[in-house]
Amino acid sequence: MNQTNEIQSAPAAEFISVAIDGPAGAGKSTIARRLAAELGYLYVDTGAIYRTVGYHMKLMGIGARDADGIRRCIDDVNIEISYQDDGLQHMILNGQDVTELIRSPEISMMASGVSAQSCVRDYLLEMQRTLARTHNVIMDGRDIGTVVLPRAQVKIYLTASAEIRAERRYKELLAKGEKLRYEEVYTDVVKRDEQDMNRPIAPLKCAKDAVVVDGSYMTVNQVVAEIKAIIRKKAEAHG
Ligand code: DC
Repeated sequence: MNQTNEIQSAPAAEFISVAIDGPAGAGKSTIARRLAAELGYLYVDTGAIYRTVGYHMKLMGIGARDADGIRRCIDDVNIEISYQDDGLQHMILNGQDVTELIRSPEISMMASGVSAQSCVRDYLLEMQRTLARTHNVIMDGRDIGTVVLPRAQVKIYLTASAEIRAERRYKELLAKGEKLRYEEVYTDVVKRDEQDMNRPIAPLKCAKDAVVVDGSYMTVNQVVAEIKAIIRKKAEAHG
């Protein structure tokens, strides 16, 4: 990847950044995609970028915890993000569209594993910041409000109980024809929470200035409406 990773944190003043962080399966992408469409912002799914790196490492036969192997291979990862008419954020890895291939439970765990490596996080940081410097963005992930865009104008921590998150993931996977038991999906959700929250670098945590939204018992429409109201309130406060 041909990026420099100089540390500089603020999104350009004329663009608005909305950071949505939270654990796996909290509904971040569904909500963020809807918000972006309604507000005319660019939706950036940062999990998809980590998944693409995880997918590359799997292709290369490198394990999620093989720090040396990952460091050796990271420069061979060339990621392009392409926004197409289907509304999806297409991930292009070394020229191949891997958008669908990165959605399996195996790649979820690979992404969670490789994302704990500092060389991977450093590598992706500037890509994410550049998007926020050049667009109004709704960016979702784990460390957007804490590390990637600490000066985002709006920060949301979207969460839901592990049982409810696992149930939603289970239904999504069933609909895609994956044959899994609910218990396996629940175990994966809890394991990913544990990995994502307890890694030493950029762990998932609620930023001090984030608004917590617990979507456990809310519909998508209700969560979207609540976050839109938060964005409106912040915009009014900033004049
Ligand atoms: O949001 P997701 O499930 O697609 O993310 C996949 C993994 O990528 C997640 O388990 C942790 C990692 N990730 C991260 O470390 N930082 C981000 N900003 C986004 C995702």
